[in-house]
Amino acid sequence: MNRALNTARFISFEGGEGAGKSTVITAAADALRALGQTVLLLREPGGTAVGEAVRAVLLNPELRGLCAESELLLMMASRAQLVRECILPALERGDWVLCDRFTDASFAYQGGGRGIDAGRIAELERWVAGIRPGLSFLLDLPVETGLARAGSRAAPDRIEAESITFFERVRATYRARAAADPARWCVVDARQPAADVAAAVVLRLNQQVEAQR
Ligand code: TMP
Repeated sequence: MNRALNTARFISFEGGEGAGKSTVITAAADALRALGQTVLLLREPGGTAVGEAVRAVLLNPELRGLCAESELLLMMASRAQLVRECILPALERGDWVLCDRFTDASFAYQGGGRGIDAGRIAELERWVAGIRPGLSFLLDLPVETGLARAGSRAAPDRIEAESITFFERVRATYRARAAADPARWCVVDARQPAADVAAAVVLRLNQQVEAQR
């Protein structure tokens, strides 16, 4: 990990399908901008030209043959680009980086969901990412509630088409990671109305801004 860099302004947003991340991230960016902060909004997989091309492969429902190892390595390829092209330069400028998912998603989906050994993911994390968010929000809600919300949107992508037991393992992994590192994680009950979820996130973010002054 790159310990020399101040990662307090690097914030990630995690959660299962239908957790309402987009609404919350928009509210978080608005709140930071209202305080005069410069904010960069990013998403994973994606966020760069290479990453968006990789995302199209990862989410393509026709690519059923993609094995778990390829899936992990493609997630990491997208991450390698995002870190080098966007995240490190922004943090070096002193900007805030709000990232819709980061390496915790690989631990949750490819580790918990697909069963890849967490030690291997941690090795790639050190090598490829080399950085962890200073603050991570987990928008947590029961799998069935999230899938019902996500299901009311468009046709499922390759990962959204997974089974309920897969998403139960994803959720359990996220919760275990949050419980193991409460200083980094803020867990928010995403069953609440979207405005209340956003308010809880903004409250915690304001503390992060204060701590940076
Ligand atoms: P999104 O729907 O939040 O944009 O994320 C795209 C999908 O990719 C979502 O189903 C979670 C999944 N994903 C992983 O499986 N591993 C990862 O490392 C990342 C960043 C996302």
